[in-house]
Amino acid sequence: MNSDSFDPAAQEQRQQQQAVEPDTPESPSRREFLETTGATVAASTVVSFATPAMAQSTDAAAPQTAITVSVNGVQHEVEVEDRWTLAELLRDGIGLTGTKIGCDRSECGACTVLMNGAPVYSCSQLAVWADDAEIRTVEGLAQNGRLTPLQQAFVDNNAPQCGFCTSGQLMSATALLQANPSPTADEARAALVGNLCRCSNYNAIVEAVVAAGGGDTA
Ligand code: FES
Repeated sequence: MNSDSFDPAAQEQRQQQQAVEPDTPESPSRREFLETTGATVAASTVVSFATPAMAQSTDAAAPQTAITVSVNGVQHEVEVEDRWTLAELLRDGIGLTGTKIGCDRSECGACTVLMNGAPVYSCSQLAVWADDAEIRTVEGLAQNGRLTPLQQAFVDNNAPQCGFCTSGQLMSATALLQANPSPTADEARAALVGNLCRCSNYNAIVEAVVAAGGGDTA
């Protein structure tokens, strides 16, 4: 059980690091990122911080609620403002930035996580609605340094392009494979209809999902 506290200074330092990393020659390739991110983060427990914006927005007069939420198997007790979204809690409160915010209004699916096993847009779920819920994010997929078959299929089929939508695609596809271990291409397309890809790499994404289920993508 973790009782989370916010550290704006740590977040500011992290943002500064992120600002310079994309331009450094040591920056990992997209494939390296996909192969290592899940394992690295899944192996850690909890890093708790808030963005300066979130810290400044914390208004003592704003309604707050104490919630208990399980994220990737780790229990968190957190005091959240009632207006915070689940995406904000995950990214800014708990530090799991694998969940991306694209449109922030239920249109793109980049923010998709699993809530009690079902895919939801975390940008459109209030954090208080996650009380007593089990949340799974992309950081919770790889276990002990091993990618899931779905993640490996994404790598093998070049499913990520810019990668921004990839975590949301993975979470929706994970829910599909849990319900239907061997989906057809049409079933994969239907399950991913709420996840947009601005690179329009849909064919490769669908092929990866079908391959993860053991289907023939030839
Ligand atoms: Fe949530 Fe686009 S960021 S649906």
